[in-house]
Amino acid sequence: MPLFRKSAPQEPEVDFTALPRHIAIIMDGNGRWAKRRGLPRTAGHAAGAETFRTIATYCKEIGLDYLTVYAFSTENWKRPAEEVSAIMKLLKKYLLEAIDQMERDRVKMAFFGDLTPLTPELRELCEQTKEISRHYEGCQVNICLNYGGRDEITRAVRFLAEQCAREGRDPASITEQDISDRLYSAGVPDPDLIIRPSGEIRTSNFLLWQSAYSEYYFTDVLWPDFSKEELHKAIASYQKRSRRFGGV
Ligand code: IPE
Ligand code: IPE
Ligand code: MG
Repeated sequence: MPLFRKSAPQEPEVDFTALPRHIAIIMDGNGRWAKRRGLPRTAGHAAGAETFRTIATYCKEIGLDYLTVYAFSTENWKRPAEEVSAIMKLLKKYLLEAIDQMERDRVKMAFFGDLTPLTPELRELCEQTKEISRHYEGCQVNICLNYGGRDEITRAVRFLAEQCAREGRDPASITEQDISDRLYSAGVPDPDLIIRPSGEIRTSNFLLWQSAYSEYYFTDVLWPDFSKEELHKAIASYQKRSRRFGGV
């Protein structure tokens, strides 16, 4: 008999009765995932879209209140036109399928970002997805599309400045809440946990205002390989932390 038995890797302990209310994910690493397999980057985006579907469904199943995902940033337009157009095509495919299966999945969907540069067809699909799912209960999934944290804050500030000029409002009366209320995320609680796969340790302009006291979880796993087990690891890590919000 061997003296030491190699134990199976331990499944992280998740307390499903004390989940974070809001998890946000930077869905990164699609391109590298494809490259490692000798595939075009587009294949990575397609695989990433499948992972998103799995994780969103699972989040609803475990009773998470909010899931926010970073799908396309204000800076991602810098990529080659073919890659951008492939991502938009995948988005269309995803939205059509989501609309088709909406009554079955019953996931409430919202979009954060400036959708005006998208094609009218894509904008219409986003609108339909949002409208059909508006009354669904349970998990709300926010998809960040042409989203940038700086852009979001700039728009809020511009609105408030215009309001002061137009209505003679005293700028000194502007509160943090006024700014929060003008963000795409108005009414959604700040993310408790932000996950970034792919090994990059940066925010890349994601939820700059809302992340003031978010807990971060970084992993080297590439987004298309992200799984329920990886999500468990992130939640288990979150549950071990002490959040002080500046207090003691
Ligand atoms: C994330 O994966 C998807 C988008 C930004 C649209 P990437 O395409 O950034 O993948 P990597 O970082 O190049 O591996
Ligand atoms: C962030 O990933 C944006 C999304 C995942 C949608 P990027 O791949 O664009 O970020 P950088 O360029 O590595 O910072
Ligand atoms: Mg990337």
